[in-house]
Amino acid sequence: MKKKLFFSIFTAGALAGGLLSTKAIAQTEELSPEEEIRLVQEFNRMLAEGINPGEVWYEVGKDAIKKYNLDKCDLGLGPGVFKGAAAQLPRYFADAGKVMDLETRVGWCLQKHAGMTQDQVLKFVRQCWGKTGNCVSEYDGIIMYLTMESNGHKINVNLKDPRVKKMYDLGKQVYYARIGPWDFNCATCHAGKQEVRIRATRLWSADRPGEAGNAVAIFPKYLVRWGLPMTMHYRYAECIRQMRWPEFIPHSDLAVALSTYLYATGNGTEIKAPGIGR
Ligand code: HEC
Repeated sequence: MKKKLFFSIFTAGALAGGLLSTKAIAQTEELSPEEEIRLVQEFNRMLAEGINPGEVWYEVGKDAIKKYNLDKCDLGLGPGVFKGAAAQLPRYFADAGKVMDLETRVGWCLQKHAGMTQDQVLKFVRQCWGKTGNCVSEYDGIIMYLTMESNGHKINVNLKDPRVKKMYDLGKQVYYARIGPWDFNCATCHAGKQEVRIRATRLWSADRPGEAGNAVAIFPKYLVRWGLPMTMHYRYAECIRQMRWPEFIPHSDLAVALSTYLYATGNGTEIKAPGIGR
């Protein structure tokens, strides 16, 4: 049964594949040394001055929540009750009959309360994917707003709920599964005591205490080089693309399984969104 579920989350992704263009690839193009230096300087300046442009998306989200009737959206604490709600996700939702993480739940609410189809939701989610600079996505705003309403709250995923625990186990299995033409798993880059670096970036590891929690607690994370915040599902999509796995579909069970594993591993970590990175 477990095995079947494990494979089904991948085939669902593969079947729905092709929707996403290869635009995203443009983002990993090598920067010139001058660009790289400019970026580092810009990043250091923002850090020193305590500026995080990602906070702008909070206001975008606040308006979008009204516009798309998301004040009716129930994140688990009741319709429109958002303070601290994101910190307790993923959780099981009886109305949907599923465990959902924040982004998946927002997608569900957009269908339910804003009348969007699943395809429209996916377009809405990916409107700024592959773009750099001057792209303001209402979806990113909504996720930013809802996450920031949990700032200062500790991540608290309820593993005592067997349905949540099942997604956690599945997520862990996925995390260590070696698939794709390169046999990569998440652990290839994010495990072990030894430091893994990609160019100047030191990657977090599931085997160094606290690092998984610190990695997820700062999402959405504003990226200076793209000039926009990256939500967790966008991050999964990027990592999975680098691994040459079947294409990642936002709000899929695969996403929820990964979130359940990562956020539950980070239980007790305080939410501090938005993070900022180069
Ligand atoms: C080929 C190496 C590689 C693999 C494999 C990989 N990632 Fe990543 N991951 C990265 C890079 C690079 C970053 C960006 C780091 C940064 O900007 O600080 C990242 C960042 C992340 C982050 C956010 C950390 C942060 O502060 O930005 C999460 C969460 C994450 N990865 C999850 C995963 C998951 C889940 C998998 C498996 C499905 C995975 N990664 C597989 C390279 C990888």
